Amino acid sequence: MVKLCPVLLVISLVTGLSHAEETWTERVVSDNKRTVISLQFYFHDILGGSSPTAVRVAQSPNTNNSPTSFGAITILDDPLTEGPDPNSKLIGRAQGLYGNTGKDRLSLTMAVSFVFTDGIYNGSSFNVLGRNPVTKAVREVSINGGTGLFRSACGHAVLRTYSINPTIATVGYNVTIWVDGTTLSSRNGGESTGSIPKRS
Ligand SMILES: *[C@@H]1O[C@H](CO)[C@@H](O)[C@H](O)[C@H]1NC(C)=O
Ligand SMILES: *[C@@H]1O[C@H](CO)[C@@H](O)[C@H](O)[C@H]1NC(C)=O
Repeated sequence: MVKLCPVLLVISLVTGLSHAEETWTERVVSDNKRTVISLQFYFHDILGGSSPTAVRVAQSPNTNNSPTSFGAITILDDPLTEGPDPNSKLIGRAQGLYGNTGKDRLSLTMAVSFVFTDGIYNGSSFNVLGRNPVTKAVREVSINGGTGLFRSACGHAVLRTYSINPTIATVGYNVTIWVDGTTLSSRNGGESTGSIPKRS
């Protein structure tokens, strides 16, 4: 029976490797204590059409007079896809809210959870909290915490608007996340489903 163990280990390593083949994600072990995860995907804020995924739920009495819609709050459940085409592979959703918090220049404050449904990160999520000056071609938002394989995550995302029209804004996300530990499988009991890790 003892001899079986190395065989099982090899199988689990091979299984682990096959999960790394998703095109939108890459992992690099940086040192003995932390792992860097890189993700690249597209976010679609669908504001119009027959099935919007971002809806304004509240605003101030002056919002309609404001060039930046200052004081509006929008709830979103936006699709995240592998490529810039909204019909490309769905890999997760961005659920939360943003407020128009720039009075003179359009800027949003985001409180959004990015929840993944594809591959090894299925069931894991991370949170974006902070300012997003959307009129800048490239901007950065902070990642503060997460669940599953993104437990205790810290990091940032570089955002670039890919396309924008009155009904849909598509934004490219390049995400860099640091998590504790060098083997992600030990964080969720070896499952690839992002199930709740066992407490030791
Ligand atoms: C993601 O996990 C859910 C729940 O475990 C499962 O039903 C679904 O098939 C998984 N999706 C993929 C793409 O692996
Ligand atoms: C995201 O990463 C890709 C590939 O590394 C790069 O081509 C692209 O310019 C990056 N986008 C941003 C907004 O940094």
